[in-house]
Amino acid sequence: RQHRIVLLPGDGIGPEITAVAKLLLDAAGEQHGFKLNFEQHPIGGVAIDASGSPLPASTLEACQASDAVLLAAIGSPRFDALPREQRPETGLLSLRAGLKLFANLRPVTILPALIDASSLKANVIKGVDLMVVRELTGGIYFGQPKGRIEADGDERAFNTMTYSRTEVDRIAKVAFDLARDRSGKLCSIDKANVLDVSQLWRDRVDALAANYGDVELSHMYVDNAAMQLVRNPRQFDVLLTGNLFGDILSDEAAMLTGSIGMLPSASLGSEGPGLFEPVHGSAPDIAGQDLANPMAMVLCAAMMLRIGLKENDAATALEGSVERVLAAGFRTGDLMSEGCTQLGCAGMGEQLLQA
Ligand code: NAI
Ligand code: MG
Repeated sequence: RQHRIVLLPGDGIGPEITAVAKLLLDAAGEQHGFKLNFEQHPIGGVAIDASGSPLPASTLEACQASDAVLLAAIGSPRFDALPREQRPETGLLSLRAGLKLFANLRPVTILPALIDASSLKANVIKGVDLMVVRELTGGIYFGQPKGRIEADGDERAFNTMTYSRTEVDRIAKVAFDLARDRSGKLCSIDKANVLDVSQLWRDRVDALAANYGDVELSHMYVDNAAMQLVRNPRQFDVLLTGNLFGDILSDEAAMLTGSIGMLPSASLGSEGPGLFEPVHGSAPDIAGQDLANPMAMVLCAAMMLRIGLKENDAATALEGSVERVLAAGFRTGDLMSEGCTQLGCAGMGEQLLQA
């Protein structure tokens, strides 16, 4: 078996954590009987430096022709003075649009070795293993009409929250399929007691449930979900949300783990390659100093193997290496606590490879 992977190291700590992920992916392929053909392309600040564009056409074309895209991070304070459309971040937005990615997946898994890193109580977060599925290209962030108007001697601003049947169906299908592959539980989040959009959302999710007799579906209002995520997060497996509610709930859920250096994410479309990237940014404050935690990037590589390439055994192997290295007491600076052994990015990569 062969897979075509585009690597986008990007800016800041990106190249350091990409090198670790590549090392582990090569080893996983060798162990599990497949070959990864890597192509590396510029995006973000490095692409602006090389070609003047944060997403060169050649990078987008290579991504579109690949089986999966693994991106580290983009962004640098060097470009802060530029107008928004010329900054590195625009490269990422254009890439998401160019690959037609509408589903954002954020797993939140509490690893036993890191329970103390969370700001929540150990008995609340122990054993948490959930996935937020957020709609990414619709809802109130993109709805028309929107704007600001002067009326009756007052100023008014407005946005439109809108979803179509087709938009709800395609994101719900992603969530149902994931729930089927995981514990079989799906909780759809809405505000159907107030919003017409949420009533359509709920109707469509209920209708699709008929195709997923093996998935146990529940519905929850978003305000209650915000509370339940910190009160009893173990009750959730897959959470399905629209764009606005998902933005807020996925950041809330992320904080259960207590460390940004551990969080992977995936963005998927209906067909074509998915984009796999850590939740964290380019960390310019520690770039080039061998201080970055490569584990979020390695967990992204695992998500890419499982969801993008259907290489489940290799994905499990990478996740296992992260757990074993943490259990053995190795930490990068961001996770460091008493009695543990501190390593740099490359040193952590070597331990992960051994494990
Ligand atoms: P950031 O996530 O880059 O850094 C926040 C803090 O967390 C920093 O102290 C950093 O050192 C630390 N940190 C982040 N990742 C780490 C890792 N793997 N290991 C150890 N420590 C880590 O967010 P910030 O500072 O707000 O943004 C920096 C740049 O990154 C900006 O240009 C921003 O636009 C960009 N950015 C890019 C994202 C992306 O590529 N998807 C997402 C968020 C920000
Ligand atoms: Mg957010």
